[in-house]
Amino acid sequence: MLNIDELLTTRRLILLGGKGGVGKTTMSSALAVLAATAERNVLLVSTDPAHSLSDAFGRHIGDHTTMLAPQLWALEIDPDKEADAYLERVLAQMRRYAGPDQIHELQRQLQLSRQSPGAQEAALLERLAKVIEEGLQNYDTVILDTAPTGHTLRLLSLPEVMAAWTDGLLRHNKRSQHLASVLQHLTPSRSIESLTSDPSQHHSAEFDSKDAELLSTLLRRQQLFNRTRRRLHDSETTAFVFVLTPERLPILETERAVQALTSQNIPVAGLIVNRLLPAMDDSNFWAHRRQQQEKHMVDLHQRLPTLPRCLVSLQEDDIVGVDALQVLGKHLTTNPVNTAD
Ligand SMILES: Nc1ncnc2c1ncn2[C@@H]1O[C@H](COP(=O)(O)OP(=O)(O)OP(=O)(O)O)[C@@H](O)[C@H]1O
Ligand SMILES: [Mg+2]
Repeated sequence: MLNIDELLTTRRLILLGGKGGVGKTTMSSALAVLAATAERNVLLVSTDPAHSLSDAFGRHIGDHTTMLAPQLWALEIDPDKEADAYLERVLAQMRRYAGPDQIHELQRQLQLSRQSPGAQEAALLERLAKVIEEGLQNYDTVILDTAPTGHTLRLLSLPEVMAAWTDGLLRHNKRSQHLASVLQHLTPSRSIESLTSDPSQHHSAEFDSKDAELLSTLLRRQQLFNRTRRRLHDSETTAFVFVLTPERLPILETERAVQALTSQNIPVAGLIVNRLLPAMDDSNFWAHRRQQQEKHMVDLHQRLPTLPRCLVSLQEDDIVGVDALQVLGKHLTTNPVNTAD
């Protein structure tokens, strides 16, 4: 049994993961409210571009720390904006290395990199690492509502990747290789020979101080990632909690995720199993649930009156295999749950 009170009193950094839609944001929010009620200063952070924390709390939060209740603050990091800001910083730094004739090409390359998942994740990871570090300095508890499982795992494995990349970069002696390596990381499949083929045209006097600046930026980042990695591995203060619903795919995905984290020595504190159906004899519960559903259906109709709908009832079994999918397909085409429209 996962003891939530104990979790909230013993751990300072709590990360919630799980498959899409299982209830991560809801549970993170609930844990944050619980911790704040128990007199802890809490920072609740999400990286969901859909701003679901705002939806869960029914008010706008966005990318600045917003107080939601006594001792409860929240922050919504937008991965797209983070990638833009990150690439802007890379461009500013690279501008000083490239000749004026190369700037246009550099901008084009960076624009392309914006789409690459590597750049998005690098940007998000750096911001998250900073938010976690500053959060733990200023709050008792930091709760992170993460993106669906696969993405979270990639993000957590990135510190190793980033450290390897930074190490490699730091070992290089040839100055022109700095630009090449940074850009190659952002757009691994593209050749950037044209940008770096003639380093002699740069002013070498300027190069040394800027070189040192770049190296110190990389070192600072590497140290930040190392500290984050140590924190994620520290089971005394950090806990990873998976949210899932009692269905086949969320269970399989959670199993894989737990195995992956365990193999990286990242502590998994437990599971929150969401949307369990209550005992069937409580007819009041079902009557209430049904009323609630009807209200939601009226609301849906008012919000999107012209869009055709297909209704799917809660099924008796999990939907596995061609036969079950065919039955569901029939269910979809015949639409047996009828409403007036
Ligand atoms: N136990 C529950 N009972 C009823 N509704 C629930 C329950 N848990 C979650 N919900 C509802 O389900 C919806 C989805 O939940 P939530 O946004 O927390 O999922 P999520 O895992 O964060 O989704 P995403 O992967 O898109 O971020 C919300 O409307 C939420 O209110
Ligand atoms: Mg969510």
